[in-house]
Amino acid sequence: MSPGTAIGTGLEAIETASRDELTALQLQRLHETLQRAYDHVALYRDKFDQAGIQPGDIRSLEDLGRLPVTSKQDLRDQYPFGMFAVPMEQIVRVHASSGTTGKPTVVGYSQDDVDLWAQVMARSIYAAGGRARDKVHISFGYGLFTGGLGAHYGAERLGCTVIPMSGGQTEKQVQLIRDFEPEVIMVTPSYALNIADEFERQGVDPAASSLRVGLLGAEPWTEGMRTEIEQRLGIDALDLYGLSEVIGPGIAQECLEAKDGLTLWEDHFYPEIIDPDSGTVLPDGEPGELVLTSLTKEAMPIIRYRTRDLTRLLPGTARTMRRVEKITGRNDDMLIIRGVNVFPSQIEALVLEQPGLSPHYFLEVYQEGPLDAIDVLVELREGTTASKKETTTLQRRIKDLVGISSTVHVVDIGTIERSQGKARRVNDTRKKN
Ligand code: DLL
Repeated sequence: MSPGTAIGTGLEAIETASRDELTALQLQRLHETLQRAYDHVALYRDKFDQAGIQPGDIRSLEDLGRLPVTSKQDLRDQYPFGMFAVPMEQIVRVHASSGTTGKPTVVGYSQDDVDLWAQVMARSIYAAGGRARDKVHISFGYGLFTGGLGAHYGAERLGCTVIPMSGGQTEKQVQLIRDFEPEVIMVTPSYALNIADEFERQGVDPAASSLRVGLLGAEPWTEGMRTEIEQRLGIDALDLYGLSEVIGPGIAQECLEAKDGLTLWEDHFYPEIIDPDSGTVLPDGEPGELVLTSLTKEAMPIIRYRTRDLTRLLPGTARTMRRVEKITGRNDDMLIIRGVNVFPSQIEALVLEQPGLSPHYFLEVYQEGPLDAIDVLVELREGTTASKKETTTLQRRIKDLVGISSTVHVVDIGTIERSQGKARRVNDTRKKN
């Protein structure tokens, strides 16, 4: 099916095609993409030439591993429009990633790219259980961030009624969910919690709302967080993955019938897992860094992009395409505390196992004399009272299961800043030294 074809009545043929059929399609599309990148983007031409490899030398999907990787810095160096493979008049849209440091990363889309994106997002919403005529409440931010508009075009393509709420104005979010009665919500996991809290503040049980399905993503979240959100909002919460450099949301989506990790839409995005230190391509099943190559993008083909996201490739279940395991950390988010590698999601998992604690937490990392120190701030759950036991239990479990000494502070409800989009979970003052 070509981008632009209306869907919404069922799976696309390629989703259940044979592996051989899929591989043949991938290889043909890879050839086209490599040639386009080489012919139209100076960065790729230079990189390929330096490596002594021409697009025609890549004869199999495995050969792709011979090409150099592309990093975020490569994209920054081409700021703003140096990665585009088409003349500016064919670019119908730009987005940019927030970029906490330095210049943002700019991405561009042709009309065909916008159509392709709508198609993979429509496919994702369908896989999560959304259907034509559902009302879809979108709480991802609209703007340079790809979340809002990506979700929006996909939901429209599927034939849904879109409520383009964007992020923020939490009281109004709840009001509109109560009044418009959407079946589907698209939101970051941390903001979904904020919305659940606001329902309760208004004296309404969020589980009794019209919502049936949530597509949640744009930040790491644990299985504990899924259970929390599913129970409180009374929905099935499915994981949605993507990144702006590759297209935005809609690269991989968890299927409702399996709920076992995210099916990666391999007919449009080719995945590899590499060892983040050596760059070696690892076999399926091995944990490492996800590297993605676009197979059908026109305006900004992306070759072997290092996502920094850590996961594994798993065989397909609900679809022919392979899955990626839930992404609970990025290379960049890893904290090294007195030599021990720690991901915030490991602490989140432990917080959520304690019924007296809420899922609102924050990590303060700092230098104490010559040593690293970490304070874990976590709010009490509504209806419970502070107890010394919660503090000592969490401290002990962090020591036993993560392997670091921490100081846990159980704080009052409302103390920790609420997320309006992607949550900020860590303040690491060591980096400023
Ligand atoms: O966050 C695109 C998106 C919007 C995805 C809405 C899903 C839903 P960026 O701002 O470029 O794009 O950030 C991409 O966010 O490399 C991951 O580190 C993280 N991320 C995105 N989805 C997930 C997820 C959008 N489901 C970066 N689980 C990625 C874990 C995620 N991390």
